[in-house]
Amino acid sequence: MKIVDLRSDTITQPTPAMRAAMAQAQVGDDVYGEDPTINRLETMSAERLGMEAALFVASGTQGNLVALLAHCGRGEQVLLGDQSHTYLFEQGGIAALGGIMPHPLPNQPDGTLRLADIEAAISPDDQHFPRTRLLCLENTHNLCHGTPLTVEYTAQAAAVAHAQGLKLHLDGARIFNAAVSLRVAASELAAPVDSVTFCLSKGLCAPVGSVLCGSAAFIEEARRARKLLGGGMRQAGFLAAAGIVALEEMTKRLSEDHRRAKELAAGLAAIPGLEVSPVSSNLVYFRLTDEVSVDAPEVERRLKAKQVLILARSARHFRAVTHCWIQDEDVTRTLAVMEQVLGSC
Ligand SMILES: Cc1ncc(COP(=O)(O)O)c(C=O)c1O
Repeated sequence: MKIVDLRSDTITQPTPAMRAAMAQAQVGDDVYGEDPTINRLETMSAERLGMEAALFVASGTQGNLVALLAHCGRGEQVLLGDQSHTYLFEQGGIAALGGIMPHPLPNQPDGTLRLADIEAAISPDDQHFPRTRLLCLENTHNLCHGTPLTVEYTAQAAAVAHAQGLKLHLDGARIFNAAVSLRVAASELAAPVDSVTFCLSKGLCAPVGSVLCGSAAFIEEARRARKLLGGGMRQAGFLAAAGIVALEEMTKRLSEDHRRAKELAAGLAAIPGLEVSPVSSNLVYFRLTDEVSVDAPEVERRLKAKQVLILARSARHFRAVTHCWIQDEDVTRTLAVMEQVLGSC
């Protein structure tokens, strides 16, 4: 029986078109700027995001780290959400490797940071304080239920940051999900920001890689930072070839994932014992109500025994993610199995 794997969109495998493109890719030494496939992916990515230049990196984590190293010096401060991926899930790399001081601000349930909080957190020009150089936002916001940040909000946050001389970096790991959800172009979402990363290896199904986009001067700095981190990958055009297919083909089908996420959420909400958060992209967050006697890890184990994989995020909370490998019948089966498991608790 097929395993229905809803743990993450990172589990997606490269498509047949990607495997073919990888097999045929022309490659060269990228540290010399001579890999034609990487060069093409970078040009395409910059165009798609409306930026001057782009840099292929190993992962979303590396993209954010390289971006922050290029924007901030040691001892300088970045404002970011207390629920953001960069703050919580990137091992504190910006502090460990960059000496950059994170100043977390409360993420609102919709993934935004209050403009007043941003303004109040910017250090005055005073020798007691670190210089605040950067604001980071995340779109869609993973922990805030995959909610997309609007063009209007991003522009407002950028205006606050820019008025005080800060730059704005966007962790757009799932920016194409945001674009589909809001029915705007990714370039509109990125227009107010100074740099943006997006991931090829999540819902877009490429096996490896993310892209960092920004001005030509910024990307030159970022290229140095990537090399510093050991990220000069030589003939990585084999990976970029899959990334090109991801960008050209796979961004077109994300609305299917969003439709299935909504169907999954509606079905889960109808099961006694579950409470589901609002869904606006491919991430479905839900929790066990107090009446359910077992905890989420136990439910996770019982689902797994029936070939359905869902992530227990805490004692009561779960996340399920739809992606290219989840079809309508998988949603139906997940709901039936969940009903069975909770019915027996
Ligand atoms: C919002 C966000 N940013 C960054 C990342 C990091 O991406 P990677 O796993 O490629 O390092 C993730 C990974 O899930 C993410 O959800």
